Amino acid sequence: MELLPKDSLETIRNADKIVFLTGAGISNESGIPTFRGEGGLWKNFRAEDLATPSAFQKDPNLVWEWYDWRREICQKAKPNPGHLTIAKWQKKMKSVSLITQNVDGLHPRAGSHSLIELHGNIFRARCTKCSEKFHLVNDGFDHSGLKYCKHCESLLRPDIVWFGEEYDQTLLTKSWELCKQSQVVFVVGTSANVSVPANLAHTAIRNGAIGIEINPDETNLTPSMKHHFDGKSGEVLPQIWKEVFPNESLE
Ligand code: APR
Repeated sequence: MELLPKDSLETIRNADKIVFLTGAGISNESGIPTFRGEGGLWKNFRAEDLATPSAFQKDPNLVWEWYDWRREICQKAKPNPGHLTIAKWQKKMKSVSLITQNVDGLHPRAGSHSLIELHGNIFRARCTKCSEKFHLVNDGFDHSGLKYCKHCESLLRPDIVWFGEEYDQTLLTKSWELCKQSQVVFVVGTSANVSVPANLAHTAIRNGAIGIEINPDETNLTPSMKHHFDGKSGEVLPQIWKEVFPNESLE
């Protein structure tokens, strides 16, 4: 059964700019729990209780323990066909951009070189004093618990945008531009509960893009979408690829 009608397939094939906006759901099939779904709790804490500047101030050990646990899961996980399809699409067409809320590093590991990691990366830490950044594995910080800056010896924190914190303005401006210019926006595996990414999708649609959402659940973005596929991204994205490029295998 075909997923997309002819007019949408044509829009995708002729698009100058396509944006993929992804969230935790795309990595679910790789075994990484989503934030708000089953398995999203850690020791009865919700992400909203731990991913904040005040939680870190109150108990940096606890927050690092949570990130160390999550980083290990991310390290063991492998990109799934959802990540791989987007990477292949980017390889084929320069006009395909990827903006992710995920910090798990699976998009780059799938081969997506040009991507915007809006919320940071779980494999990076930065100094709370001098802002120097470190790669947690390559720079030898691959241990659990508190970590300290190699330059000024101050406490390191995860290089993640926490609730209530400002986004990196350069990344944000670039994301708005990409969304404004796009003719197609794929919204994949996000609950759209965080306002900035949800607004990025709205911006694309307000500026004329067609919206294609892939998510087993409906979200508050669903009514604005031209298509909603209630399936897993690791299954739906390869199917869409086959319809758009019937003569090209994904291998
Ligand atoms: N394929 C597609 N979507 C899926 C799949 C799947 N296999 N499995 C789950 N989903 C959907 C869920 O239905 C849900 O709507 O993925 C979404 C995951 O939502 P959240 O857990 O809220 O994750 P996300 O939207 O990325 O959260 C945004 O919130 O906690 C913060 O900073 C954190 O980046 C995160 C942000």
